Amino acid sequence: MTSITDERGDELMYSGVRISEIVEQNRGIGGVLGLLWFQRELPDYFCKFLELCLIVTADHGPAVSGAHNTIVAARAGKDLVSSLASGLLTIGPRFGGALNAAAEQFSAAFDSNKSPKDFVVDMKKKNEYIMGIGHRVKSLENPDARVKIVKDFVRTQFPRCPLFEFALEVEKITTAKRSNLILNVDGAIAVAFVDLLRESGLFSREEADRYINMGILNAVFVLGRTAGFIGHYVDQCRLDQGLYRHPWDDINYIMPH
Ligand code: ACO
Ligand code: LMR
Repeated sequence: MTSITDERGDELMYSGVRISEIVEQNRGIGGVLGLLWFQRELPDYFCKFLELCLIVTADHGPAVSGAHNTIVAARAGKDLVSSLASGLLTIGPRFGGALNAAAEQFSAAFDSNKSPKDFVVDMKKKNEYIMGIGHRVKSLENPDARVKIVKDFVRTQFPRCPLFEFALEVEKITTAKRSNLILNVDGAIAVAFVDLLRESGLFSREEADRYINMGILNAVFVLGRTAGFIGHYVDQCRLDQGLYRHPWDDINYIMPH
């Protein structure tokens, strides 16, 4: 069974909308994701938010886990798909794959009328990280411009953003402990998406929860960062870089005896 696309007729259709109509109406990749992921035509601000997420997640330099793996594989002579796969396989709970868990944690706390403080205290008691919080290089002193871009869009374009505001209150508490415990780009997109699904009027609450539980939020980072990983593959080929071997002086050899 499939319910999102039909290529059998004279013209390809995404969720019943002819591909020529999608192009003529300039719906963009956001409109395509609406049809292929959410099986519906989405309003302009929703499509623009999807595209904004792809833009801000596209890349974050060669040092991050996934870009590093893509680069190492490319320099080992692997093909594009293999190098891309190597990078994508690093996406997980600590890097790029925290969106879904962040959405679930933040919305569970918010829905149970927990205060931001109680949420932070409870997570600490459970010795669990708050997903969507924390960054290795971004902090209050070195803010992440991507998060500000998402915050400004949410505050100006969304009907309401109660969970985003809750997350910002949580961030005030976590950054009081350590300045790198900011609402990171995973967390910002995650809570914004929950507000979008809940407040847009396009999804029932049950649908909104179902999409989040499916893992659709992590898909946003995967799709966006695929663009950056491909860029790093192409860049290494263009630079004609040889095999990568990590320098000994950067490895701490701690032999058992
Ligand atoms: N929630 C609560 N406390 C945290 C968190 C968190 N998310 N992250 C770190 N801390 C605390 C730790 O408990 C520790 O406290 P302690 O000194 O009292 O024991 C202290 O901060 C240092 O912990 P580290 O793990 O060493 O911090 P680091 O800076 O290396 O962690 C990281 C950065 C990996 C991003 C971490 O914050 C984390 O795992 N966050 C949750 C997952 C997440 O959101 N990842 C997405 C990152 S952005 C992206 O990938 C696009
Ligand atoms: C990213 O988008 O890859 C970053 O936020 C993670 C990092 O460590 O820079």
